[in-house]
Amino acid sequence: MAVRPVLVLPDQRLRAVADPIEKIDAEIKTLAKDMLDTMYDAPGIGLAAPQVGVLKRIVVMDLAAEGEPPQPLVLINPEITRISDDTVITEEGCLSIPELYYDVERPAAVTVEYTDLDGKHVTEEAEGRFAIVIQHELDHLDGVLYIDYLSRLKRDRVLKKFQKAERFSGRKAG
Ligand code: NI
Repeated sequence: MAVRPVLVLPDQRLRAVADPIEKIDAEIKTLAKDMLDTMYDAPGIGLAAPQVGVLKRIVVMDLAAEGEPPQPLVLINPEITRISDDTVITEEGCLSIPELYYDVERPAAVTVEYTDLDGKHVTEEAEGRFAIVIQHELDHLDGVLYIDYLSRLKRDRVLKKFQKAERFSGRKAG
């Protein structure tokens, strides 16, 4: 089990665009496992590689309900190929923006295409919380955070809070 440190705002690596994965080798498999360990440890329901400082297009998630067996998912080079017209408002949080939760409006359903850890191409229709987590995590691969969808006033308040926290703590761990 290897838990990696999760980057927190205002770390600029959270704003970078991640690179496609060319080959699913041992390094990628270890990364996927470490990301799952890190997500379960947090605990969280989704994590994208840039959040552990690796600028590669891979996300992990697990939407199993409490008491259910784990359902780890690894999505490599994921792409949303269809979004629904209808939208839904959900409260979101992010391990890189700890302890804050805000309502965000997003398409209610999406189609996602990705490669799994065995190199198999997968197409999946997602709705409900699954659709929201996919959109949230895939945004991370393009340096987009859910606070970018908030009003400017709310977003600035969040950014200021974390800039201040960084000044007080001096150097950020992780
Ligand atoms: Ni997040």
